[in-house]
Amino acid sequence: MNHYIVTGGAGFIGSTLVRQLLALGDGEVHVIDNLLTGKEENLAEVRSQIVFHKADIRDYSAIAAPMAGASTVFHLAAIPSVPRSIHDPEPSHEVNVNGTWNVFRAAKEGGVRRVVYAASSSAYGDTEVLPKVESMQANPRSPYAAQKLMGEHYGSVFTSCFGLEVVSLRFFNVFGPRQDPGSPYSGVLSKFMTALLDNEQPTIHGDGEQTRDFTYVEDVAALVIKASRAPGVAGRTYNAGNGNRYSLNLTWDLLQKAEGVRIQPIYSPSRAGDVRDSQADTTAARRDLGHDPQFSFEEGLRRTLAWYRAHHLSPAGAR
Ligand code: UD1
Repeated sequence: MNHYIVTGGAGFIGSTLVRQLLALGDGEVHVIDNLLTGKEENLAEVRSQIVFHKADIRDYSAIAAPMAGASTVFHLAAIPSVPRSIHDPEPSHEVNVNGTWNVFRAAKEGGVRRVVYAASSSAYGDTEVLPKVESMQANPRSPYAAQKLMGEHYGSVFTSCFGLEVVSLRFFNVFGPRQDPGSPYSGVLSKFMTALLDNEQPTIHGDGEQTRDFTYVEDVAALVIKASRAPGVAGRTYNAGNGNRYSLNLTWDLLQKAEGVRIQPIYSPSRAGDVRDSQADTTAARRDLGHDPQFSFEEGLRRTLAWYRAHHLSPAGAR
């Protein structure tokens, strides 16, 4: 039997992964989460099938005990967001760098076989060539990008020096159900969806012609599981993207068409640390991990919009 640990398992991506692991039915699923950005309600209907540890990855002793003896750790706990890491850099450093160190150390001490680490496409920064390939020089433009890149380096060092298998996946702008729109640092699609349903103007930072490889959360979770099982990939980094790119202006157009409305966005200055274009080369992930995205951007948008519609209360009500 497997013994899975998902750090950040109450978050939007983590809670999707938890459901996929439960569907495999081949082991126990434990969640470690401090509920800072994660929410227990994300796990509501699966709560009785998992073991939940409310613990903060900044506290080594709090996570070492639940991680001891696990077979596989999925390390998704983080303080995400490029702008948040600029406005309030210390907590994001402490969680994303020191917390990641603690997770790798606890995994090694606890005899874990493999850790799959959620790295970030932001590590590339702006590249001259698209799509972005793993062999390109990393060029972080924000504390968040640098922190996530540090985790990759530690992952490969834990593999080579300490015998812990770590596989890093650079997530490319993940979106889907349960992404929280309620913070100024929330992902753009969660903001767009709620603006659309509230019939409000979305804010677009910059000219809206920046592009992103929006990747549906179920595809990312499936890849994460494949990365935990693939042979011969310890210590390596792979892109976890869909392989396409869409501008924010085009994305807002698609959403307006889906809803049959016309709403003019509010354009505001570009954000510090923002990357202009982002698109994953998926060749290596397909070849070595069996990556096989099932959801086109349009299909992912349809499913996500349906979820927000079902879970969305009017602006006057609690959200
Ligand atoms: C970055 C990473 C991504 C990572 C994420 C974690 C890149 C290319 N991607 O996402 O891999 O998972 O951080 O937080 O670095 N925007 C608006 N209006 C809004 C909100 C955002 O126009 O209301 C714009 C941003 O300025 C940006 C784009 O939308 O150009 C995407 O922003 P966001 O969803 O926050 O993600 P990234 O910063 O691209």
